Amino acid sequence: MITKTTIDRIMEAIDIVEVIGEFVQLKKRGANYVGLSPFSNERTPSFTVSPAKGIFKDFSSGKGGSAVTFLMELEKFTYPEALKWLANKYGIEVEETVESHENKEEENHRESLMIVSAYAAKFFHESLLNTEEGQNIGLSYFKERGFNNETIKKFELGYSPDQWEAFSAQAVKEGYQEEFLVESGLSVKRDNGTLYDRYRGRVMFPIHGFTGRVIAFGGRTLKTDKNVPKYVNSPESEIYHKSNVLYGLYFAKKAIRDEDNCYLVEGYADVLSVHQAGIENVVASSGTSLTVEQIRLISRFTKNITILYDGDAAGIKASLRGLDMILEEGLNVKVVLFPDGHDPDSYVRSVGTNAFKNYIDQNRKDFILYKTDILLKEAGTDPIKRAEVIREVVESIAKIPDSIKASVFIKDCSHLLQIDERALLSELNKMRLAKSKKDAQQGAKQAELAEQLPVEEISPEKPAKEDHTQEKEIIRLLLLYGSKMIDWDGIANTYIGPFMVAELGDVEFEHDSSKKIVELYSKEVENGVLPDEQFFIHYPDKEVVDLAVTLIATKYTLSENWYEMHKILVPDEQVNMKATILGAIFHLKKHKVGKILDGLRTELQKAEGDENTEILLTQYMQMKKVEKSISDYLGSVIIK
Ligand code: UTP
Ligand code: MN
Repeated sequence: MITKTTIDRIMEAIDIVEVIGEFVQLKKRGANYVGLSPFSNERTPSFTVSPAKGIFKDFSSGKGGSAVTFLMELEKFTYPEALKWLANKYGIEVEETVESHENKEEENHRESLMIVSAYAAKFFHESLLNTEEGQNIGLSYFKERGFNNETIKKFELGYSPDQWEAFSAQAVKEGYQEEFLVESGLSVKRDNGTLYDRYRGRVMFPIHGFTGRVIAFGGRTLKTDKNVPKYVNSPESEIYHKSNVLYGLYFAKKAIRDEDNCYLVEGYADVLSVHQAGIENVVASSGTSLTVEQIRLISRFTKNITILYDGDAAGIKASLRGLDMILEEGLNVKVVLFPDGHDPDSYVRSVGTNAFKNYIDQNRKDFILYKTDILLKEAGTDPIKRAEVIREVVESIAKIPDSIKASVFIKDCSHLLQIDERALLSELNKMRLAKSKKDAQQGAKQAELAEQLPVEEISPEKPAKEDHTQEKEIIRLLLLYGSKMIDWDGIANTYIGPFMVAELGDVEFEHDSSKKIVELYSKEVENGVLPDEQFFIHYPDKEVVDLAVTLIATKYTLSENWYEMHKILVPDEQVNMKATILGAIFHLKKHKVGKILDGLRTELQKAEGDENTEILLTQYMQMKKVEKSISDYLGSVIIK
């Protein structure tokens, strides 16, 4: 377990805007920051970060919490992983106490894979730089390709010795478990149970995950033998899902945000060369064709993608259709082609940084216009082929969710295709109509399915699911005002929180996380600590954090009629703290008494005048009295 001191240090260092800003483009709005939710595919920002409170709230997915919960939600980190990531970010040393074996195994499976990968990256990097074989073969290869020391260090390039067991044997010797060595694909198990190295004699490109930790490798052979695969890549594992990863993204994130554009290239070498040339907003889909997940990764930082292709026409045509996917995600796509079979890597090395940049600026073409161009050239004068081109182009345009943007393309394409704008528009509308029909059909199907699902029955005795409004209101006040001094007459030198907890000692909370918070609160108070909202925002229990954040972030209001009844206006709740606090306490009590009364009433009906009736009646009368006194008290407190 990570020690309390370390956790405290991390919590002190956290700047939530800075942390979340690594993943989401945030804009300042008043005291808060807003951005597009990374949890849903929204187009208008509803994701809010409050630096003052150290919390975020995503109104589209309902998620909310601290910087820690954010990392847990987004990166699927465990609590300790999130803490470690933050510790690493802020240069804080992590102290840990020993965990039980059982715990460790379960929680640390992913962590173990990451640790093994980090170790391997270090091993390969060091063998590149510090061994004779590495220097002679690997390093000289990288140097020949023009990669400088800074690039080699930054991307942790490496070399895997051309021996069967150099890595595996050393890793086992240093105590790394076979299970993880094999699962990560670094080692392969022989039939006799021993391990050998997968990447023998290859130069190594570690693949960094979104948070900068090594999660996989690509190993390039240095042989020209056609029978040897050029690259060997890590298999899919619990930490590496190829379709969710872009090579170089970790090093490109900031520049992508700053430049509001992302260059997309094909290979590891392209990323390295372009990055080294000072164009750092570059990533590669490395080998796979671009996936929706990868596009969404990019779209967290920018809505603009520029694809840098090598000049090989066959490849371009094949990928044209795939690019519609980017349009569908609402991003703008531009394309740059390089001359004479150059790829970005070879081109930047042959012409230098400035000429490379100029070339990109001058040859950047909008994807749709570019596609139209290519297809038209191919179709020549054949009228049937030309009609097919029109259909394909309009199909792409129909994918663009923004209709204003689409109509601009229609205009541009009508010039290129030499066809009337209205004809294109009518084609576009036809396609849209067909699409919405299809969507509607799917919707109807879902509705049909939903109808077949059993509907939860609500028995007449059981009231509809309780919303626990009053309990949550108590928690809200506890979090917001608990550490304020009581300023009303009669009670001096007491804080609101402990006062509330004491007053509610006889109330049984029913709502799970409210109950947890009240219990935590009294426990802390007993220990002489006044927990504030931060305590709950950073508490390692997700339910607690969720409730705390929801209550703090949203303007939580009691039911309308509570305000009606007591003539309280929400913005004024701090003006008359006595009414607010006591009002909430006694309102909850009244609610509880009401429930007891309901119960007694049911029992009285059941008793039907038997021997229990009298006792029940007495209880009922007593409770009625309690209810009345609470009501009276409420009235007097509120009217004052
Ligand atoms: P390239 O063949 O263009 O590789 O494949 P490259 O990175 O430019 O390498 P150099 O310049 O020849 O050294 C593009 C990408 O496709 C994936 C790799 O991610 C590579 O970077 N790939 C290629 C594989 O995964 N396996 C292969 O066998 C070949
Ligand atoms: Mn290449």
